[in-house]
Amino acid sequence: MHLKIAILAGDGIGPEVTNEAVNVLTTVANARGHVFEYIPLLIGGVAITAYGTPLPPETLEKTLRCDAALLGAVGDNKFNHLPPSERPEAGLLRIRAALGGFANLRPAVAYKALADNSPLRPEITDGADILFVRELLGGLYFGEPRAWHKSTDRAHNTMVYTRAEVERVARIAFDLASRREKKKITSVDKANVLECSQLWRAVVTDVSRDYPTVTLEHQLVDSMAIHLMTRPRDFDVVLTENLFGDILSDESGVITGSLGMLPSATLGGKVNLYEPVHGSAPDIAGTGKANPIGAILTAAMVLRHSAGMEAEAKLIEDAVDEALNEGNRTTDIARGNVAGQTTLATTQMGELI
Ligand code: NAI
Ligand code: MG
Repeated sequence: MHLKIAILAGDGIGPEVTNEAVNVLTTVANARGHVFEYIPLLIGGVAITAYGTPLPPETLEKTLRCDAALLGAVGDNKFNHLPPSERPEAGLLRIRAALGGFANLRPAVAYKALADNSPLRPEITDGADILFVRELLGGLYFGEPRAWHKSTDRAHNTMVYTRAEVERVARIAFDLASRREKKKITSVDKANVLECSQLWRAVVTDVSRDYPTVTLEHQLVDSMAIHLMTRPRDFDVVLTENLFGDILSDESGVITGSLGMLPSATLGGKVNLYEPVHGSAPDIAGTGKANPIGAILTAAMVLRHSAGMEAEAKLIEDAVDEALNEGNRTTDIARGNVAGQTTLATTQMGELI
């Protein structure tokens, strides 16, 4: 299979981790007889330096002609004097909006080898494997009117969802759940208080009728925040709206133990956008300390969600597991004086995987 992938490496550790992700993809392509074509494009601070804008038109045009976009990270302190709309981060917001993805997937997986890195006890996290599906283009963050008048003592945000917006993200979640082992969806809302949540619950329930193999449960968001920390193994796919998904998926990052381990994918737009959850980490850029695993697991998501290559995605995930089980660590996931651990630089970890 031929796959054309836009490579938006960006700033700081973005290029360092993206390079390792691309090497892993190429290894998989060579082993399985696929051809992956990479289109390197500028975004963020590097684009400002070259073209004076964080999202040059050429970057967007060429990305729109690719099968998937793999992004590293954007952000560079040397542009802190610029207004937000001109900074590197504006390039990311613009490309997300232009691509139009509405289903943000964030896996939260407990790695046995890293059990001691999580603040949660190993007997609680052991085996936890949650896939968050967060609605990304609706709800409070996009509701109009955003502020009905400017005042120092009153502010106003509007939560809006339409049936179509809920239905399209629910279908993606049910499709994903139907291909997973547990085949379970936990839809999270606040239906005891919010009208939007009552619509959400009704539409998700309607969609569930088309997926008889998937079990659906509803949870209220406040108690869900506790369940995720006390019994994360009971969940499989967690489907929720924009604000709740933002909070709960960050909360569940503790299950994995390091920001450098977390991948994400945004589906449903013109081109799917894949990015590790972390930023450009200027504090460690250029030191070889960046953990490439979040980016490498993001590459696995490219293969799973933009190419239907489940076996190839699993190959990458198994290689990550194996590297960790053998005691290999980057600095962020290393623990002092533990026997049998080797601390590796970014490129060494990438090569090993
Ligand atoms: P950050 O995620 O870049 O770093 C937070 C902390 O985690 C730092 O101590 C960093 O060293 C560490 N870290 C992050 N990724 C790591 C990795 N792969 N391996 C090892 N350690 C890692 O967030 P921060 O510091 O708040 O922001 C830095 C810059 O990144 C800012 O300009 C910010 O706007 C930008 N940013 C960009 C994002 C993106 O491109 N998607 C997301 C978040 C922040
Ligand atoms: Mg957030």
